[in-house]
Amino acid sequence: MPEQKESAPVVAIDGPSGAGKSTVSKTLATAIDAAYLDTGAMYRAATLAVLKAEVDPSQAAQVTKTVKNAKLEFGTSPDDPYSRVDGEDVSIDIRSEDVTKAVSAVAGNKAVRKQLIAEQQRLIAEAKKGIVVEGRDIIEVVAPDADVKVYLTADPEARAGRRAAELGVGAEETKADITRRDGADSKTTKPLEAPEGATVIDSTELPVVEVVAKILALLNNRDIDD
Ligand code: DC
Repeated sequence: MPEQKESAPVVAIDGPSGAGKSTVSKTLATAIDAAYLDTGAMYRAATLAVLKAEVDPSQAAQVTKTVKNAKLEFGTSPDDPYSRVDGEDVSIDIRSEDVTKAVSAVAGNKAVRKQLIAEQQRLIAEAKKGIVVEGRDIIEVVAPDADVKVYLTADPEARAGRRAAELGVGAEETKADITRRDGADSKTTKPLEAPEGATVIDSTELPVVEVVAKILALLNNRDIDD
């Protein structure tokens, strides 16, 4: 095993919304002094560019052109994983309800996916100290050679409860939104299926530190196996 891999692991974490990917991924990246990439934020930033341009998210050709022409930039420090569209920091705006509603349509655009996947692979290759990457298709498409592959899931009630706490809204409303988004995302990726070769971690009853400890153990075993 080349030395660079030992010190620069790629950890891929896939799973549906509300499974706890962001908190776990950021905590893990900080613990191992690696970079962090939130690929969902990239699809959200592309969606914001589309909405700002007043383009209908279902109009594929216009969406493709708008996203291609937008200047999208992403920070990969777990302390400040910013998103910028045309020079403006949109880290907060990309979490808005409008973006959340439109993001599945934009993420379903083939040309947008091709563009963002190329950028994700570039950012991964650039991460000299390793990187924790979260999303829906990291294991199967973006980084199939990742050193550690985790499918993080939780039951729908727990996922809705977490999202509701984050957003400060009712759990029922969030559960309906999560179910809708699972369905919409399933047209493009497979958020509800564990990819082949992934270690499945169910976070329903597990606190963040324990999930992180499990992934750290996978990383350490990899070093021993190699
Ligand atoms: O993780 P999130 O909820 O912020 O992701 C936003 C949307 O982006 C989600 O509805 C599905 C899509 N997505 C995707 O298609 N592929 C990824 N690798 C990450 C997210």
